[in-house]
Amino acid sequence: MHLATLLLGPLAVAASSVPYEQYILAPKTRDLVPASVHNVNGSVTNAVSLTRSSGNATFHGVSSVTYDFGINVAGLVSLDVGSASSSSAFLGVTFSESSLWINEQASDATGNTGLDMPLWFPVGKGAGKYTPEEKHIRGGFRYLTVVSNTTATVQVRGVRVNYTAAPDQDLRAYTGYFHSDDELINKIWYAGAYTNQICTINPKHGNSLVHLSDDSSKEIELPDTATWWNNYTITNGSSTITDGAKRDRLVWPGDMSIALEAIAVSTGDLYSVRTALESLFVLQKANGQLPYAGKPFLDLTSYTYHLHSLIGASYLYRFSGDKEWISQHWSQYKRGVQWAVSSVDSTGLANITASSDWLRFGMGGHNIEANAILYYVLQDAQILASELQDTSSAARWKHIAGNIKIAANEKLWDDKNGLYIDNQTTTLHPQDGNAWAIKANLTSSTRQSTIVSNALKARWGTYGAPAPEAGKTVSPFIGGFELQAHFLANHPNSALDLIRLQWGFMLNDPRMTQSTFIEGYSTDGSLHYAPYANDPRVSHAHGWSTGPTYALTAYAAGIQLTGAGGSTWKLAPQPGNLTSVDAGFSSTLGKFSTKFRKSGGSFVQFSFVAPLNTTGSVFLPGTKGTLVSRSGKRVVLSHGSATGLSGGRWDLRV
Ligand SMILES: *[C@@H]1O[C@H](CO)[C@@H](O)[C@H](O)[C@H]1NC(C)=O
Ligand SMILES: *[C@@H]1O[C@H](CO)[C@@H](O)[C@H](O)[C@H]1NC(C)=O
Ligand SMILES: *[C@@H]1O[C@H](CO)[C@@H](O)[C@H](O)[C@H]1NC(C)=O
Ligand SMILES: *[C@@H]1O[C@H](CO)[C@@H](O)[C@H](O)[C@H]1NC(C)=O
Ligand SMILES: *[C@@H]1O[C@H](CO)[C@@H](O)[C@H](O)[C@H]1NC(C)=O
Ligand SMILES: *[C@@H]1O[C@H](CO)[C@@H](O)[C@H](O)[C@H]1NC(C)=O
Ligand SMILES: *[C@@H]1O[C@H](CO)[C@@H](O)[C@H](O)[C@H]1NC(C)=O
Ligand SMILES: *[C@@H]1O[C@H](CO)[C@@H](O)[C@H](O)[C@H]1NC(C)=O
Ligand SMILES: *[C@@H]1O[C@H](CO)[C@@H](O)[C@H](O)[C@H]1NC(C)=O
Ligand SMILES: *[C@@H]1O[C@H](CO)[C@@H](O)[C@H](O)[C@H]1NC(C)=O
Ligand SMILES: *[C@@H]1O[C@H](CO)[C@@H](O)[C@H](O)[C@H]1NC(C)=O
Repeated sequence: MHLATLLLGPLAVAASSVPYEQYILAPKTRDLVPASVHNVNGSVTNAVSLTRSSGNATFHGVSSVTYDFGINVAGLVSLDVGSASSSSAFLGVTFSESSLWINEQASDATGNTGLDMPLWFPVGKGAGKYTPEEKHIRGGFRYLTVVSNTTATVQVRGVRVNYTAAPDQDLRAYTGYFHSDDELINKIWYAGAYTNQICTINPKHGNSLVHLSDDSSKEIELPDTATWWNNYTITNGSSTITDGAKRDRLVWPGDMSIALEAIAVSTGDLYSVRTALESLFVLQKANGQLPYAGKPFLDLTSYTYHLHSLIGASYLYRFSGDKEWISQHWSQYKRGVQWAVSSVDSTGLANITASSDWLRFGMGGHNIEANAILYYVLQDAQILASELQDTSSAARWKHIAGNIKIAANEKLWDDKNGLYIDNQTTTLHPQDGNAWAIKANLTSSTRQSTIVSNALKARWGTYGAPAPEAGKTVSPFIGGFELQAHFLANHPNSALDLIRLQWGFMLNDPRMTQSTFIEGYSTDGSLHYAPYANDPRVSHAHGWSTGPTYALTAYAAGIQLTGAGGSTWKLAPQPGNLTSVDAGFSSTLGKFSTKFRKSGGSFVQFSFVAPLNTTGSVFLPGTKGTLVSRSGKRVVLSHGSATGLSGGRWDLRV
């Protein structure tokens, strides 16, 4: 071997290695065997051997083994059968994300009612590999039960899963990373990143919604179970982001408002976001209305989800800087804004007449959430218009937005309780509208944002932040917006405490997967999500529950892209009581990172990297010192901040 190769080889590997890779939950191989045996029922010899790449377990008569993959996984199962003592022998397989729904007669549910059918293999036919059809890819399961339902003796050499999630990704090659001195916070960041990976699918494997219109009061009795197929092509391309791994495996724009930002700062898989958004834009109606969800979901109107598609387009542009894409969709975007503002009435507020939202109730009238999101979109729209040199609509949007802000604060603000009411005919203070009011800057002062943030925090229960607009519900979706609201109200410790409380529960509770985040649960800690009658239906891997991942990168580590693709940026760490943070991610323009240590209220170490040819600002409140770039530039912090900085690598000298 040449000396240069000897020297460069290992160095090259070290340079390309992924920071903090040990926290990444995604599997190292797509060819999976179970991690451990969870339970054996009946007589099975050497069940544990199937946790190795070649095994030999013997099922003696009616029996079953539940295997545990250690994390939530997805894919096509196969059984390698050695022999069966009878031609009528069968082996079945059932799946469950949660330990609560392990059952040898059925899988957890993808439908409104009952449980899902097992997969059965006629192993009496002889030795060999048994694999179901591709439409029986299972999108999320931690537990897999192999069941023998006859008196036969059956030898099994292997139980494997061909891991299918995130089909275009090198599963552990994250472009983003996050590390701090709080291990729980670190693990939550990575579980959020992994949740979005398992929700990213080959678009051919969307749910066919066989039982979408089933009456949810009608229960299925075992052993009668529901069919399920993941064979509907939901988008173009080779990969797309869906709401949930097990279900719905469909494109949902609301869910994407959280998932997209988390993806951008972790795996960077914006391709899967683009195919999803395009599948929504092709469904736009002549009047500008965008769909509630992608196909094959029902054609329903949702005011807020319509707005979330517009938010998705703007977020995608912010992270990708893909001007050609946003330009191609600009006339559609504008028609979308037009449809939304057509609901604004003489009061200045939008009057919502479509009930569909994130399955909260009472989504009508002058609703605060809808108006806050509309206000947010109108700000976004003005920025996009100026970047695309299309100023004709911007003045009108600004005027409408101004009126929304005045009217919302006049008609929907409850000064006594320090929160907005849901609409003019109720005293209910929703989580969604209040979190969005801060996020959208619908509040008229920093003081008002502080008040809302405090009032939201005062309502937290044992298991997290309540969403009273959806009954006794903890919504990790709306909770994700609440996290951003606390940071924006300059209460980083409230955001971090909510992450520890709510996402800590979601990560560590034994009924969870310890790797992916559940879609919703009850304020009493039971895994009942009020909008669903059927508890086994709840998804344990939902992209909308991954709010901490972006919130930690953008606010705790402080890395925010302000211009398209990061052409301009703002580095404003709000680490709360974290004392050291090291985080970064890449956009198409290059790498962004911050690394710092805090002591006694000020930053004692701080360095950052931003791509060359970009410019931005740094905000380090309470810190005195000079920023020094690798190329020798020096900028003295003024009141802890510096503006007009060029990209490159900079260090703080205190
Ligand atoms: C074990 O098998 C018995 C008898 O078939 C059945 O009633 C029971 O539900 C099984 N338990 C589990 C955990 O599968
Ligand atoms: C598998 O184990 C059974 C005993 O449980 C034994 O009879 C059989 O020979 C083994 N097969 C192989 C291939 O090791
Ligand atoms: C085992 O399950 C298969 C598939 O459902 C079924 O056809 C067969 O009758 C069952 N055998 C027994 C003994 O229950
Ligand atoms: C997994 O499935 C893919 C797609 O069908 C196939 O190309 C690949 O060979 C399979 N891998 C294994 C280990 O079976
Ligand atoms: C999905 O598979 C089922 C069962 O084979 C079939 O009836 C259905 O037409 C398929 N759906 C699509 C969209 O291919
Ligand atoms: C896929 O692309 C074709 C051709 O551009 C387009 O007609 C179709 O609407 C697209 N479908 C989806 C779901 O994006
Ligand atoms: C107003 O809000 C309350 C509380 O969420 C809700 O019950 C009611 O249905 C809402 N009004 C309309 C018109 O949706
Ligand atoms: C909203 O519009 C509906 C339908 O036109 C109307 O019945 C309702 O009174 C309006 N609500 C408000 C608060 O104006
Ligand atoms: C929020 O709105 C206020 C006016 O109410 C404005 O002064 C401020 O600049 C806005 N903040 C941002 C971040 O846009
Ligand atoms: C930050 O504060 C929380 C309580 O709010 C505490 O549990 C945690 O240990 C603190 N972390 C550090 C690094 O001080
Ligand atoms: C920076 O911009 C200049 C002029 O547009 C260009 O020549 C150069 O390649 C750019 N450098 C990087 C690293 O993008």
